[in-house]
Amino acid sequence: MSQVRIITVDGPSGSGKGTISQRVAEHLGWHFLDSGAIYRVLGVMVDREDISIDSVDKIAELARNMPLSFSGEQAMLAGEDVTGEIRTETAGNRASKVAVIPEVRSALLEWQQKYAKPPGLVADGRDMGTVVFPQAQVKIFLTASPEERAKRRYKQLKEKGLGVNLARLIEEIRERDERDSKRTVAPLQAAEGALTLDSTQLSIDEVYGQVMRKVHETFADLSGN
Ligand code: DC
Repeated sequence: MSQVRIITVDGPSGSGKGTISQRVAEHLGWHFLDSGAIYRVLGVMVDREDISIDSVDKIAELARNMPLSFSGEQAMLAGEDVTGEIRTETAGNRASKVAVIPEVRSALLEWQQKYAKPPGLVADGRDMGTVVFPQAQVKIFLTASPEERAKRRYKQLKEKGLGVNLARLIEEIRERDERDSKRTVAPLQAAEGALTLDSTQLSIDEVYGQVMRKVHETFADLSGN
């Protein structure tokens, strides 16, 4: 079993896990895996090729042969920058639908595991601590109330100049939580031994502080804050 240092940050959308895990990875100078982006890109491909969500074999085949690469924060699909396209609410919901398919999850497993490289990895997702990197030394489960998560998303979308409806966002978040938590393979849940943090009443800095405290407790030789 690999001894590479791994920190997993799992949780529902809007919990702040993306921001936190990116910040931790940057601070430590470690690799970063945004596993949600992979499901989002697959959702975009399924949509572009007009494949029905029920065509499990076709979708799994796409997952096995996805010409996807990351360049910093950019997601590249066969050389095309799809970063903007995968960040919409529609893309998130579509990702959640393809992510239910067990064959898709197994096709993407090894691909994700290759990210575990020295000096270390911070992995953001739903099943990072439970399925993809069960050997991770630090596991965080970050959550927040659906209303708070919808409000955060609402603010982000408004800032981007996109028209949104808060009540509808809350509804979509609840639906996505339900689908992600109830699926039979790798459902969204806290890994055993995970530090669970509810960020509803916490600022990003407070969450970051608690995560870094756990990281330093676990990897005592790391210096700095
Ligand atoms: O984290 P995100 O919002 O970018 O993820 C989009 C969807 O992808 C999420 O609703 C469920 C799916 N997903 C998953 O099933 N497993 C992961 N490790 C990451 C994301």
